[in-house]
Amino acid sequence: MSGVGGESEGERYTGSGFLSLSLWVALSKLLNTMKTLGLGDRLYDYLLSVSLREPEVLQHLRQETSQLPNAVMQVTPDEAQLLGFLVQLMQARRTLEIGVFTGYSSLAVALALPEDGQMIACDVSEEYTAIARRYWQQAGVAHKIDLRLAPALETLDQLLSEGQAGCFDFALIDADKGNYLNYYERCLQLIRPGGLIAVDNVLWSGRVADPSVQDDATTAIRRFNETLYQDERISLSLLPIADGLTLALKR
Ligand SMILES: C[S@@+](CC[C@H](N)C(=O)[O-])C[C@H]1O[C@@H](n2cnc3c(N)ncnc32)[C@H](O)[C@@H]1O
Repeated sequence: MSGVGGESEGERYTGSGFLSLSLWVALSKLLNTMKTLGLGDRLYDYLLSVSLREPEVLQHLRQETSQLPNAVMQVTPDEAQLLGFLVQLMQARRTLEIGVFTGYSSLAVALALPEDGQMIACDVSEEYTAIARRYWQQAGVAHKIDLRLAPALETLDQLLSEGQAGCFDFALIDADKGNYLNYYERCLQLIRPGGLIAVDNVLWSGRVADPSVQDDATTAIRRFNETLYQDERISLSLLPIADGLTLALKR
């Protein structure tokens, strides 16, 4: 067996010290039996086949978006269904969406809101959100969604200056990664205690766990994850769904 970092035949380096090989093997086995199941294509297709209830309007939006060069930015349908599920579970009435793109997650959430529910949806792209608006209309939820075409930080600061702190139940953060902490801090003020912030892409295709990757977006997401881990103002869960979804419940 070739050693790493000077470890010998009978021991393994764990990052904080050496473990005997037998203990290391036992620990690895335990962690492997406890860790989340990896999803290959076959199992993921099965999961979708017995759980995804995607309304036709969302299917059409997904098909149209798949023709765009940036289609990969769209949330996955099972993730969007989870967001709608959470909004229903909390009986949310007022929500924030930071990063609309062609509108898939906003539509899934708006469909889960009551008739008098309201979403403030933030994006900077006229082009992408024109598609979103078309589908919001088709789905009969356009009256619930107030699209703000401006940098999201400006919109969130404006809501705060209007005295809307504590007035929202739910927020989804899914825009430029360098601003994740800025969005989070503002959302934390804007949602009520017991409100939920969902944050997409926190596993960043696995790059967060690869120390050789040091680009700006990856380091920003790492810093974001580490900050939330230490933040006593929230209860925290990081779900390995899609590209990683953090749920932060305001205490
Ligand atoms: C990953 S996509 C959002 C995907 C969307 N949640 C969905 O379900 O399809 C990110 C979006 O953030 C928007 N965006 C980027 N920078 C922004 C900013 N500073 N303020 C507001 N929106 C921004 C982009 O225009 C893009 O539409």
